[in-house]
Amino acid sequence: MTTMRAMAADRVGPGATLRPQDLQVREPGDGEVLIKVKAAAVNPADLGMLAGRYRWYDELRLPLVPGYDVAGVVEAGDWEPGAAVVASTGHSRTQVGGYAEYVTLPASYVAPKPANLDWSEAATLPLAALTAHQALELLDLHPGQSLLVNGPRGAVGRFAAELARAAGITVLEPGVPVDGAGVVGVGGDVVSVDAALDVVGGERARQTFATVRDGGSYVTVVPEFWVPGGQFTPDRGITPQLVRAEPSGARLTTISRAAEAGDLTATVGKTLPLTDAQQALDLLASRGVSGKIVLLP
Ligand SMILES: NC(=O)c1ccc[n+]([C@@H]2O[C@H](COP(=O)([O-])OP(=O)(O)OC[C@H]3O[C@@H](n4cnc5c(N)ncnc54)[C@H](OP(=O)(O)O)[C@@H]3O)[C@@H](O)[C@H]2O)c1
Repeated sequence: MTTMRAMAADRVGPGATLRPQDLQVREPGDGEVLIKVKAAAVNPADLGMLAGRYRWYDELRLPLVPGYDVAGVVEAGDWEPGAAVVASTGHSRTQVGGYAEYVTLPASYVAPKPANLDWSEAATLPLAALTAHQALELLDLHPGQSLLVNGPRGAVGRFAAELARAAGITVLEPGVPVDGAGVVGVGGDVVSVDAALDVVGGERARQTFATVRDGGSYVTVVPEFWVPGGQFTPDRGITPQLVRAEPSGARLTTISRAAEAGDLTATVGKTLPLTDAQQALDLLASRGVSGKIVLLP
């Protein structure tokens, strides 16, 4: 039996922390791939799952290894050995975490790594770019239409803004003046937009919703703001929609190509050794780093 080093929690809930653990490497079955992880990105969802604010498809299995995003090299299974790849681990389905030396995943989750990105940069793509790509699909905009992204410097918001611009959509930011038309989403000086993407939630989401023209489209990626008490009801002909990111190798291949074409750019804020995963989560929680935090096994 082969073992690997992973950063894992023995329980979830308030105060749960990660520690180094030696866990079994699972051999790939039919339609699966074993990937040697070169880099794993840290996402806000990793904090949520550790804190116990998270729903898995199946009963939670412990120890829990967090991590949605990996870039690495195929070791075995249903993919060319030695291939450089990226993948979302689809954690809510698989409970396979990227904070480890190896992951075993469905081959359908895997895509070629963009040739122009290094391992850390490539690892920033999967979850955030899949989410952004799905959000734009739901928003269903045409070239020349306007989109307000309310957190355009975060991972999902930035990828969404880049993909939208590449599709000929006019992307607006809160508080940034628009030629001759005031400032989007600030005080009484509100410009109407065709569509808005909320990546922040809370009061910012409410202001963002208010900027969408009647009959426009509105998508949020923040589930907390979707539940009773925070959810918008259909209003003014706008039906709010929630993105639930799906691990898709086909969509991720499109995203890899967009990165190679220069339509998507990766921003690594900090790299840390895998064993500093707890520090990485603490930094994320305190919003202490701009750009993605990436763990290196
Ligand atoms: N539904 C899904 O399937 C799905 C998938 C992926 C992510 N998500 C969720 O989407 C959200 C964004 O994820 P991400 O990876 O893009 O995170 P991120 O890179 O940390 O970006 C978060 C963005 O929100 C802004 N922000 C955070 N806290 C804020 C606050 N208190 N007030 C104002 N602005 C704030 C940040 O602004 P600054 O840059 O100024 O800090 C940044 O623009 C998270 O809630 C995440 O859990 C959902």
